[in-house]
This record gives sequence, C-alpha cells and structure tokens, in this order.
Amino acid sequence: MRLTARVPATSANLGPGFDCFGLALDLCNEVTVDTEAEPGISWEGEGAEELPIDGSDMVSRAMRWVAEREGQRIGPFHLHGVNRIPLERGLGSSAAAAVAGVAIARTWLRLPDWADREVLFRAAADIERHPDNAAAAAYGGLTVVADRSVRRFDVPPSIRPVALIPEHLRISTEEARRVLPSEVPLSDAVYNVAHGALAISALTTGDLDLLRRALRDRLHQDVRLSLVAELREVFERMASSGIPVCVSGAGPSLLAFETDGDPIPDPGDHWRTLRLATRPTGVEVLSLPD
Ligand code: HSE
Repeated sequence: MRLTARVPATSANLGPGFDCFGLALDLCNEVTVDTEAEPGISWEGEGAEELPIDGSDMVSRAMRWVAEREGQRIGPFHLHGVNRIPLERGLGSSAAAAVAGVAIARTWLRLPDWADREVLFRAAADIERHPDNAAAAAYGGLTVVADRSVRRFDVPPSIRPVALIPEHLRISTEEARRVLPSEVPLSDAVYNVAHGALAISALTTGDLDLLRRALRDRLHQDVRLSLVAELREVFERMASSGIPVCVSGAGPSLLAFETDGDPIPDPGDHWRTLRLATRPTGVEVLSLPD
C-alpha cells in the first residue's frame, strides 16, 4: 500500500486572531508512506539535512499517536517527505506534519471516520498544540477555532498572500511565546475583538482597504517584532507604505497581501518572497499504485 498526504502551509493569527485564525496557503508538503518498501525515513527539500530519521519526527509521532489511541498497530513502512514549507518560520511546518501523519494513519487503519476533518483536526491539535495552524491545514481556506471547533470560510482570489521569509532567521514557536505577556489590558482585548471581526470580513469579501486596518493587533505582534530589529524595520516599511501586513504565526516570516497596482517590494538581502494563492482544500490523502 502506498499513501501520499498532501498538506498545505498555513499562516496563523492573521494579526488580531491570535491563537484562533488560520489561512491555508498553496505551498504543500507531500508525505508518502509505502508499506512494501524497505522500512526507513527519508526527506527531501526544506530541512532535509536536519529532520530526524529515527522515528522522532512529527509525522511518525502523529501516526503512532493515532494507532495507540485506536489500540491498533501499524506495521513497518518507508516514509518519504517532500518538504516545501520552510521550518521554524511561522508557516505551520510542524502542524502540517502532524495533520499529514494523522491523515495517513487514519486512512491506513481504515478507521470508520477516517476522512472526518473534525476528528483529524482535533487529533493533530492535541499532538502539535497549535490548533490555529492545524485547523487551516486540515480544512483549507480561512479557519477560526473556537471551543475546539472549526468554522471554515472561503477566501476570494483577490486575496493574494505573499510570504516574506527571512532565510537567515529562525524563531521557534516556544521562544516566540515565552516573550508574550500573561495578562493584557481590557482595552487591548477589546481592540483585538473589533479588529478580528474586521479581518474576517475583509478576508472573506476581498476588501483590501479594510484588511490594511483590520490586521492590526495589540496582543502579540509588537513584542515579537521586538525580537529582531530587522523584522520590525521591514514590517514598518511595508505597513507605512499602505501594504496589509502581519506577522505570520509566531514569526519570523511576515504575511503581506498584494494588490494589482501595488506590488510588494523586495524586503532585502536574505529574504525570500513567495507569492502564493490561498488554498481552498486542506489535507488530501491519495492512494497511489505500487
Ligand atoms: N498562534 C500561535 C502563536 C501560532 O502565535 O504562537 C503558532 O504557529
């Protein structure tokens, strides 16, 4: 049996939607599990040199987690990952791996609800601990997580995300969460509720003028932009020229939105600019001929 999971990159938070908004991006990893091939693990693409091959990677862990929960055993297999999502850049590589592992294991074990996205999302969120990324990777489109449930929204093609990725900077989510305050003023919470509602409206209607204002946040972005002076400098340059921009997930990448007459300038040396469509579909599992 050969199963391939295709799973998208995701950008969490989208400014004010800290820990609850997610957007699926058309940049996918592919993970193939082959039960007939020589057992082992191999990677190509992003992080291929550094990802573990001893079974401690997130895809394998998620597969084992599902099997253990179901009281089943998964036999030997070869796992090959084609990675296009950069690691530790705020583009959901770890949630993508968890979602792929859960989707493959559930398909392999032919669980009765193997294609149920809510079950898949909850398992991946329990394993990886970032439900906002896991929701968008499982459902595609724009997602909002509330009370462990997901609401998915379509996003029109006029929403054209551009990931600005500092190749020379990496920040783990743990590190980027350690700097956050444990309490915030009520006025900041109110500010984020209002801007979060505007952001959902702007992203679902394609209103880029509204999006420019709606992406503002008072809970996490400022402190994260303080981690690296260059990050704040690029962010402020984009924002002051009227480009809708936010920190992608926990950073250090930024997510900007392009309009026809207003191309996003190159942020500078060592930055990669990826012009991506949004991805309407979440994880897919394909069964390939042997
Ligand atoms: N919402 C999480 C955070 C995203 O900002 O820490 C993790 O990718």
